[in-house]
Amino acid sequence: MNPFKNRDIVSIKDFSRNDFLFLFDSANRIESLQEKERNHILEGKILGYLFFEPSTRTRLSFEAAMLWLGGRCLGFAEPKVSSVEKGENLADTIRTVENYVDIIVMRHYKDGAAKFAAEISNKPIINGGSGTEEHPTQAMTDLYTIVKEKGGIDGLRVGILGDLKYGRTVYSLLYALSQFNVKVDLISHPMLRVRREVFFDLEKKIELSEHENVEEVLPELDVLYVTRVQKERFPDPAEYEKVKSSYIVNLKLLEKAKKDLIILHPLPRIDEISYDVDNSKYAKYFKQTLYGKILRSALLALILDADF
Ligand code: NCD
Repeated sequence: MNPFKNRDIVSIKDFSRNDFLFLFDSANRIESLQEKERNHILEGKILGYLFFEPSTRTRLSFEAAMLWLGGRCLGFAEPKVSSVEKGENLADTIRTVENYVDIIVMRHYKDGAAKFAAEISNKPIINGGSGTEEHPTQAMTDLYTIVKEKGGIDGLRVGILGDLKYGRTVYSLLYALSQFNVKVDLISHPMLRVRREVFFDLEKKIELSEHENVEEVLPELDVLYVTRVQKERFPDPAEYEKVKSSYIVNLKLLEKAKKDLIILHPLPRIDEISYDVDNSKYAKYFKQTLYGKILRSALLALILDADF
């Protein structure tokens, strides 16, 4: 049974460990197909993308995924070119676009926007990032990258470094990891710790510890997930100034790492990973963008219940 058939992907919390494993198997299967078998899986299907916030990887990987499976895409990557600029509300935008497409991926700056869109729409909605809240398909990509690069998830020790307060990818990743047997080290400036209500909730589900200093835990880690400080989410620019560039991962720091550590990052990177790390064996963040396309292909094919 395909657990993704016709589903909205609003929150990672709606999916179980078995759902993730089913998705990863499907992604492996799609990747192993010959081009001529793959390029008609979503023939005749259209993906609509509605991006109210900037994006490179999420939007383009969804588009690339759709094209890879023989489908097509339409939408806007910039709300200024749509009627939203004239004052059209989100509900009317969704009610219109759902008439033109089979599935919608939406990114919005407001928490709750994806849930609202899913309630309105008769077509499946994929949350491509909602406020500071969640980014479920990024977390699926992150787990898939870990599976591909480490052979599995259980038993690993995962460090998450950076802006744990405003980074939505962190919240989706933490809830996804909580379905597995892992230890998580949360490493951040004290002003950027995971939001307390979420911390207390997660503490019941997964072994968590908090640190200020990455060097303290680095030698123990199997995975280091780095995030940028989310400048645009700070209510006060002066607060951002205090914490920007508060950590940096470079080759010197990595001398203390396990030989088979992998470094992930949802990207974009600002200055939190220095460029000298890019060519090291640890760096998997560009490979992660490729896994994102494969994973999202499988997700689209499963939601649209295509044969493959
Ligand atoms: C992230 C996002 O938009 O939340 N980007 C992404 O989709 N990979 C991370 C970020 O902007 O820092």
